[in-house]
Amino acid sequence: MRYSKILGTGGYLPEKILTNNDLEKIVDTTDEWIITRTGIHQRHIAAEDENAVTMADRAGRVALDVAGLKPTDIDMIIVSSTTPYMVFPSTACLLQERYGIAGCAAFDLNATACAGFMYGFSIADQFIRTGAINHALVIGSEVMSRVVDWDDRSTCVLFGDGAGAVVLGPSSEPGVLSTHLHADGTHKDVLYLPLGNNKTPNLESVKMMGNQLFKLAVNILGDLFDETLEKNNLQKSDVDWLIPHQANIRIIQAMAKKLEMSLDHVAITLDKQANTSSASIPLALDEAIRDGRVQRGQLLLMEGFGGGLAWGSALVRY
Ligand code: ACO
Repeated sequence: MRYSKILGTGGYLPEKILTNNDLEKIVDTTDEWIITRTGIHQRHIAAEDENAVTMADRAGRVALDVAGLKPTDIDMIIVSSTTPYMVFPSTACLLQERYGIAGCAAFDLNATACAGFMYGFSIADQFIRTGAINHALVIGSEVMSRVVDWDDRSTCVLFGDGAGAVVLGPSSEPGVLSTHLHADGTHKDVLYLPLGNNKTPNLESVKMMGNQLFKLAVNILGDLFDETLEKNNLQKSDVDWLIPHQANIRIIQAMAKKLEMSLDHVAITLDKQANTSSASIPLALDEAIRDGRVQRGQLLLMEGFGGGLAWGSALVRY
């Protein structure tokens, strides 16, 4: 059997930190409200000269280093971003040019919002598993600070900037056990980011019906866990680590409860990074691997959920 396996991870967070106390000076909110309702304490904000490409570049190079690979070893670059530097060329192509590896497949996924990383991860897994390619670089890179309305307290407190990267390569041992992707366009009005006019990037700001989204997320993710574990004939107790999308600590707590798992076995970066959309899963994974919590051989359940609605999971033997 041929599987794909995580060979390396990397992350990048902009230097500037915006705390909840800083936000109190911008909108009518409090540190206490934000922490109680979301679990967020602070977020990173990209500098003017940073964008989805520069951040993806930094995270990708770290992941390649950890994997012991050179850029020329990469056969496919997939970048998920709802906040690309340009509509085209894709962030992946701009990254490819920076890495000097013209010729390999490179494309962006931008229609899957916060679930984008799971979609990219799944696509890379399929290509590697079939033998079509050997190594894929999958990155989530987001400058959410440029698409939130800084006058809207119900959304601007939630998001942050950053990039996370994973290098996947072939293995005769598992590996990625299965991936699961879904979408439901009937919920298109619950969370959306319209195109604007004469703006760079050409986007308006995130609109969200937070309450409805919260309930949908909890139900959908609960079903997704069942589907993922059943596919592999595994039990909740087999999962060592939950690596969730970081939208709200209360959603994450509900997911840990669903898995009958202590929060100590959940990779949480939300408090320090807020919701970095499609970058949040690889960033959480990278942190947990880097500080030694996630160990080789452990079973990881990764899940993402976002606008579309779109959602996805992966069960991975790290
Ligand atoms: N500070 C103070 N008060 C606020 C703030 C704020 N920043 N934002 C909203 N409020 C007020 C509201 O105006 C409302 O006041 P009212 O009762 O007088 O009308 C009150 O707080 C409660 O608002 P709710 O929206 O009901 O608060 P809720 O407990 O639902 O929390 C939140 C809001 C945090 C957005 C939550 O609903 C949530 O996390 N939803 C899910 C988000 C999600 O799943 N995202 C994942 C996909 S999105 C993505 O990742 C791109």
